[in-house]
Amino acid sequence: LGRRSEGDPAPGTLEIVAEDPDSDARSCRLWTGHGPVETPCFMPVGTYGAVKGLLPEELRTVGSQVVLANAYHLTHRPGPERVRSLGGIHGFMHWPGPVLTDSGGYQVFSLRSLQKIDDSGVDYRTHFDGSKARMTPRSVLEAEAAIGPDICMILDHCPPGDADRSAMRAAMERTTRWAREAARLRRDILRPEQLCFGIVQGGTDLELRREHVDALAELDFDGYALGGLSVGEPIPKMHATFAAIAPRMPKHKPRYVMGIGTPADLLAAIRSGVDMFDCVIPSRHARNGQILTFQGRFNIRNGRFRTDDRPPDPDCACPVCSRFSRAYLRHLHVHNDPLYVRLATIHNLYFFHQWVAAQRQAIRAGNYAAVAAALDAVLAERRH
Ligand code: GUN
Ligand code: ZN
Repeated sequence: LGRRSEGDPAPGTLEIVAEDPDSDARSCRLWTGHGPVETPCFMPVGTYGAVKGLLPEELRTVGSQVVLANAYHLTHRPGPERVRSLGGIHGFMHWPGPVLTDSGGYQVFSLRSLQKIDDSGVDYRTHFDGSKARMTPRSVLEAEAAIGPDICMILDHCPPGDADRSAMRAAMERTTRWAREAARLRRDILRPEQLCFGIVQGGTDLELRREHVDALAELDFDGYALGGLSVGEPIPKMHATFAAIAPRMPKHKPRYVMGIGTPADLLAAIRSGVDMFDCVIPSRHARNGQILTFQGRFNIRNGRFRTDDRPPDPDCACPVCSRFSRAYLRHLHVHNDPLYVRLATIHNLYFFHQWVAAQRQAIRAGNYAAVAAALDAVLAERRH
């Protein structure tokens, strides 16, 4: 893991390994500066350079290939130059595999910290101490150059889900201008092996989305993301956006849906030809007592688990389910032992990676239709 070998394809190369004949689903291999990523791929969230509570080797064990961090948070704590001087993000967190950083555009627009936005950037107050700061397409790339991820997201404007069409259009056009600026600067600022992805906005308005995909495709980024989803719009509209827009995104570049999602969202996105995802659900649910399984989801606090000696998921091969009972997890949770969160996070991440790996293997084996139908049945029968 994490090593580049002589003869490896250049970072940014996307090999399409298999395509499902009955849907838009595909399975690819994306080459990065820290080795290949097999897709579809779920990326756990490690905002500050750690997936809360887990060791790097535990991330490997649960099946993580890429870790997502956030350039905004790392810019304020401990600072990009500090990360650089401590070995870059890989050395700092001792994770040898690929790392992706989000730009922080989303945080600035979602945490009510926004002060003033203009064509060249955005003024905001940090959610750390309220101090004033400014983010521009250039400042984001400079932070990412110092932090050193393999995949850098550019600055975008993510409007709220209930924004009207003219606000959506304005955010989209601003995102295009910022993307042009980032495309112009990236060769001078980022290292050659750092990939740079553009972000498509436009809400659930398919006309705006199509227009934006086409505008960004001209800028020749190394990959393309769908942003501005799961911001309060109805779930069927979000899934319809995957279905209509993902197949229109450049075929020979990786496709990434940001901040998504539930198991049902991942199934819908993979069917539509999306390659990459990130979401806090597995780790956040774990902290709240929610355990996700192929049989549905339950809360470990429930009194019925007091005497339940079965593993969290009897069909799961994770290091938690092969050793510990529901009763033990509940006991740890009740007593606030930090081991509970670690065990629950390990299992939930393992489940998410299995959910995606089952689809990756099926696409490659040529039986995706059957496996996707089986996963649909799991979702229909059980509440996720
Ligand atoms: N994470 C989830 N949605 C978004 C988005 O629209 N933009 C960015 N930069 N990050 C996100
Ligand atoms: Zn398990």
